[in-house]
Amino acid sequence: MSTTPNARGTQSDDPDAAPWWRRAVVYQVYLRSFADANGDGTGDIAGLRSRLPYLADLGVDAIWLNPWYASPLRDGGYDVADFREIDPRFGSTAEAVELIAECHDHGIRVIVDIVPNHTSSEHEWFHAAVIAGPGSAERSRYHFLPGRGPGGSEPPTDWPSVFGGPAWTRLNDHPDDGEWYLHLFDPSQPDLNWDHPGVHAEFHDILRFWLDRGVDGFRVDVAHGLVKHPTYADLDDRPPHVQAATVHDHPFWDRDGLHDIYRSWRSVLDEYDDRMMVAEATIHASRYPLYLRPDEFHQAFDFDLLRAEWSAKDVGEIVHRAVATAASVGSNPTWVLSNHDVMRHATRFGLPHGVDLATWSVTGPHDLLDAGLGRRRARAAALVALALPGSTYLYQGDELALPEVWDLPPEVLDDPVWTRSGHTEKGRDGCRVPMPWSADGPSLGFGDGPPWLPQPASFAELSVESQTADPDSTLELYRRAIALRRELLVDDEQVAELDLGADVLAFERGAGLRSVTNMGASPIAMPTGELLLSSDPALAATAVELPPDVTVWVR
Ligand code: GLC
Repeated sequence: MSTTPNARGTQSDDPDAAPWWRRAVVYQVYLRSFADANGDGTGDIAGLRSRLPYLADLGVDAIWLNPWYASPLRDGGYDVADFREIDPRFGSTAEAVELIAECHDHGIRVIVDIVPNHTSSEHEWFHAAVIAGPGSAERSRYHFLPGRGPGGSEPPTDWPSVFGGPAWTRLNDHPDDGEWYLHLFDPSQPDLNWDHPGVHAEFHDILRFWLDRGVDGFRVDVAHGLVKHPTYADLDDRPPHVQAATVHDHPFWDRDGLHDIYRSWRSVLDEYDDRMMVAEATIHASRYPLYLRPDEFHQAFDFDLLRAEWSAKDVGEIVHRAVATAASVGSNPTWVLSNHDVMRHATRFGLPHGVDLATWSVTGPHDLLDAGLGRRRARAAALVALALPGSTYLYQGDELALPEVWDLPPEVLDDPVWTRSGHTEKGRDGCRVPMPWSADGPSLGFGDGPPWLPQPASFAELSVESQTADPDSTLELYRRAIALRRELLVDDEQVAELDLGADVLAFERGAGLRSVTNMGASPIAMPTGELLLSSDPALAATAVELPPDVTVWVR
């Protein structure tokens, strides 16, 4: 297979080669916390550019950047004030274009986040809507409704916000007006009305704006939320979230009308070469095929692995289901262990089954956490996610086995979840603490000043500097695994499940590579064959037993 680099990076010139996204290792860059070049405590594009050699060396095929657009950062940038401007704290649009070209020079594709469900309340459309008043054309781009009850003092529906509290806020600053607006997330994130043709046209234009600047793909935020019930039916006894069950005619999630939107987006992407879009759709797994039809999304995040307990049965079922689901529509499976919205898996896997991850950092008991076990399992899980066919999404710091910083002091918390949950959930800051690049310095090499969230002392020994060239480190494990994957696995999408016992997750890939994970409590017989890689650095090539919580790749 030819892999001659062309102007857009490492794209193959072989017309029969699978498109790049089907087998990519995609590295999620949470820009605000990745690398800070100007010392203001916030990561930026210049910082990312300075670290591209690190990402190229790690061997990733693509990066996905969380929103970098102009934003008040009330929800970490998912509150976009201008979709065509880079926030000045991150850099400029010119720097973004330079970054994209530099990534391509390194053979790295660039996926950007697009946030179509809502804008920031600081977006010019929302300002205009507030000023123009009830019944105006400006308001029709959002969901404005009169309230219920005496004087319209109650929200128009019983819909809850994902972040806690009602999904409606009244325009208190405008007492003679009194309308409520919808925000499925924070009040600073008013939901757009996707029945409005101008909203469709605007997003087609935004897609083209970034495609013309060279991006290779889009991660579509809250892809299951854009279309709302036409007459705003109450939720009543339906669940507020839909990932656990399929729900017919849910008033705001996973509605059938979404698919026409994504068909039209797909036709925009198809005007360009080799571009993709991936859905962030928190839905029941049985609904993925609808989003993955050949004229819609190229792929969707599969979040079941990210929610799975440490159980060979559960993970095995997820793998089986995810592979079959993707195959049924000609898409590819995706594997996600962590991202910027969940407790990091190095901590998750160190907590006993059944702990409520949302509230545990507040309520404890904190001595339930076995951090060493979590890290051991995180390393084993990484080898599973990297051995499976399809694309694997890594979150920055996964490769360092960074833990969740669950004990951040309340006064530094920034996530709106903390206040909107009435301080019952700390929210997502604990997985967003800036990257440690070196073992010392004011922010461990992240920048020249204090970082926007404090790093714990334990980050020093987990830094890139501390782990580089240490053959036992998690970073070197990732480097070797990604290199082996590229060498042995990438040209092949087959996977055969192997039955090695109830507590064992085992499968065979092309080139005879078998990935075997002992997810039980006792050692099992070491699988036969040449030991290519082990998540346990202490495991000898001549070992006769595979200890618990370890993955090996053998051939
Ligand atoms: C997605 C993002 C999350 C954000 C939310 C609202 O779930 O991943 O970080 O808060 O959408 O945009």
